[in-house]
Amino acid sequence: MNLEITPAQFGVRSSVSKPIPEFLLEMGEDGIRKMVSDHYDAIQKSDIFEIFPQDAQEFEDAKKHSADFMIQICGGPAYFNQNRGAPQMVGRYNPFRITAQTRQVWLELYREILIELERDGVTERSVTSWWNYINVFSNWMINTQG
Ligand code: HEM
Repeated sequence: MNLEITPAQFGVRSSVSKPIPEFLLEMGEDGIRKMVSDHYDAIQKSDIFEIFPQDAQEFEDAKKHSADFMIQICGGPAYFNQNRGAPQMVGRYNPFRITAQTRQVWLELYREILIELERDGVTERSVTSWWNYINVFSNWMINTQG
């Protein structure tokens, strides 16, 4: 499986394809919640943790918000819209400095988790469709040069 990180391009918002429906079918909602939780746990041990909530409860809330969004994007119930309103993700990042390097670490941490998921039996086609989605959409989040 080849999960390459596309070089960051500041200010470029390429068109994004949502993950294929099979990803949610194979993972289930609980599986996606665990994937996001594992990613946030890895973030907590990484160099980019400083931009995330430092309070334990707020960090758990952030996990839930992100997982709600990911389930919704994968064709599941609109939990994020219900709990947080319209996504408008780029605007939600205004308070945070997201550089190309921050994105690189964020993606590298996801890549390790996805390699494990494929090892555990999630199909390469589903994992790759999820990767292609976050690889492109994460570039939209970059809001700080350098
Ligand atoms: C460039 C890499 C990324 C970084 C460094 C990053 C970082 C962050 C940070 C610091 C927060 C705020 C945590 C909080 O207080 O809730 C956040 C929230 C969130 N992120 Fe990301 N993020 C990245 C990419 C993405 C991508 C690609 C998605 C979607 C596919 C995403 C979905 C979310 C969602 C749904 C929230 C919660 C927003 C809310 O409820 O207000 N993030 N992210």
